[in-house]
Amino acid sequence: MELNIAAVSALCLCIIVSLFAITSAEDPYKFFDWKVSYGDISPLGVRQQGILINGQFPGPDINSVTNDNLIINVFNNLDEPFLISWSGIQQRRNSYEDGVFGTTCPIPPGKNFTYKLQVKDQIGSFYYFPSLAFHKAAGAFGGIRILSRPLIPVPFPKPADDYTVLIGDWYKTNHKDLRHQLDSGKILSFPDGILINGHGPNGASFNVVKGKTYRMRISNVGLQNSLNFRIQDHTMTLVEVEGTHTVQTTLTSLDVHVGQSYSVLVTADQPDKDYYIVVSSRFTSQVLTTTGILHYSNSKSPVSGPPPAGPTTDINFSLGQARSIRTNLTASGPRPNPQGTYHYGQINISRTIILSNSQGTVNGKQIYAINSVSYVAPDTPLKLADHFKIEGVFRPGSIQDKPTGGNIYFDTSVLQTDYKAFIEIVFQNNEDIIQSYHLDGYSFFVVGMEGGQWTTDSRKKYNLQDAIPRCTTQVYPKSWTAVYFALDNVGMWNLRSEFWARQYLGQQLYLRVYTTSTSVRDEYPIPTNALLCGKATGRSLGNVTIA
Ligand SMILES: *[C@@H]1O[C@H](CO)[C@@H](O)[C@H](O)[C@H]1NC(C)=O
Ligand SMILES: *[C@@H]1O[C@H](CO)[C@@H](O)[C@H](O)[C@H]1NC(C)=O
Ligand SMILES: *[C@@H]1O[C@H](CO)[C@@H](O)[C@H](O)[C@H]1NC(C)=O
Ligand SMILES: *[C@@H]1O[C@H](CO)[C@@H](O)[C@H](O)[C@H]1NC(C)=O
Ligand SMILES: *[C@@H]1O[C@H](CO)[C@@H](O)[C@H](O)[C@H]1NC(C)=O
Repeated sequence: MELNIAAVSALCLCIIVSLFAITSAEDPYKFFDWKVSYGDISPLGVRQQGILINGQFPGPDINSVTNDNLIINVFNNLDEPFLISWSGIQQRRNSYEDGVFGTTCPIPPGKNFTYKLQVKDQIGSFYYFPSLAFHKAAGAFGGIRILSRPLIPVPFPKPADDYTVLIGDWYKTNHKDLRHQLDSGKILSFPDGILINGHGPNGASFNVVKGKTYRMRISNVGLQNSLNFRIQDHTMTLVEVEGTHTVQTTLTSLDVHVGQSYSVLVTADQPDKDYYIVVSSRFTSQVLTTTGILHYSNSKSPVSGPPPAGPTTDINFSLGQARSIRTNLTASGPRPNPQGTYHYGQINISRTIILSNSQGTVNGKQIYAINSVSYVAPDTPLKLADHFKIEGVFRPGSIQDKPTGGNIYFDTSVLQTDYKAFIEIVFQNNEDIIQSYHLDGYSFFVVGMEGGQWTTDSRKKYNLQDAIPRCTTQVYPKSWTAVYFALDNVGMWNLRSEFWARQYLGQQLYLRVYTTSTSVRDEYPIPTNALLCGKATGRSLGNVTIA
């Protein structure tokens, strides 16, 4: 009897595995139903229209464990097409689920789409956000945490509690009006304030008990500003950056560039009272500041004294801090073995790509570009054009590997790369403002950053031992940042400025990581529920049926 059951379940498992090629049946499933709607919010004391998920602003946290399958059914109750993307969730072999317009058709108003994600071989702190039409200025973002599996050691004691801290600059203006500013050729205006978890000054409060230690997962979900995070009379211990455990260092303040995520531990080791949490803008002549509250359970006194001051325009502090962030090579990551077993510094580079940002105007309208190309989205997602072999949507190689110095022009920039190559990308920023770049589908080793022009000699100073792998890196004004990574994830992957007006007006491209193989070991088939649009409208998704 027992044998039979085992045999039957083994057979079932086998069938399920082959049907659900997209997800591993042995890994747990978590189901979410999300209703996306407009709703009134007043984070800065003025009522405005926000985008809510299940009535919440910010949206609900996603709590997951390494390898979980997340089945998220998103109902779009807005009056505009909508997409959610998952910053830092690598979508192994599955760029179809990435939720950016280059891979996925928008969910029409009144319709729904079920994302099937797997947080495969990942741990750490990330977030989701709406990727289309400047919706990010109205909400629909939230935290994603991926906990280690139970038997895998984490290099610090379990914290007493674990808080998501979403920080970001904020506008009182409706997202459609901000979008109109950009569509009509203007630059994005300066923000009105900064929010912490959707709250204005002293609205966000975090409860602590004296003597205990807490984890704070801080993500900058704003539209453009680098932000500094600090807590009155407390230090923070940096422990994790975008999925990697760091060498633990003590900080009095932390720079979080737009799009980035960090985990710090905070010990409630001060007298029982309330303390300011301060978030302020970096590298801006007018400094925006907001405060939240660290509330001790036995506190009898409200916050007092001046909120601690932080760095403002100083770059050297920020650069020094960035360089001090290292991987703890002996700590476990998503697997029980040490994180340092992958020796990225000993692999030969097969290609160097230098990407340089610029800005300019065409017909009096502001635009932004990478290697002189200002990205224009075609009507059909690039990934679907690839799948259905639709001609005329994009040309691989429509952007050069090196800056050309020529005038900015419009194109659908797709950088063609080979699966399994090991590449170097240098982000060369010749502009006088800070940049923040994000790559979907990957985590890259940030091997170096420095002022001036990058040259091959710059490699001599690279960190080839314990650089941090991450998915979003800053590039300081008139400076460069270099990253290394292995192209081990087939798909169409968005590389973009996290400065949201810049990506909206062309500072982005797609990395086409290509193979002729059609094996599901290399790439999963198109999802059976894929939405079709543009030139892919009406195409057949095949005969596969998943119950
Ligand atoms: C929309 O939601 C229904 C369940 O309410 C589900 O059966 C269907 O697959 C979803 N549509 C898509 C495209 O995922
Ligand atoms: C690195 O991780 C190991 C293993 O968990 C831990 O014992 C050690 O304290 C960590 N070192 C630092 C500097 O964070
Ligand atoms: C820049 O910061 C580093 C530490 O990161 C420090 O050693 C150096 O003195 C600083 N330089 C200036 C000019 O402030
Ligand atoms: C890397 O390149 C060097 C010099 O070109 C060569 O000697 C070495 O064999 C290469 N290593 C690998 C692993 O391909
Ligand atoms: C779908 O299945 C039907 C019957 O099983 C078959 O006749 C048809 O050719 C299949 N279509 C495709 C696109 O595979």
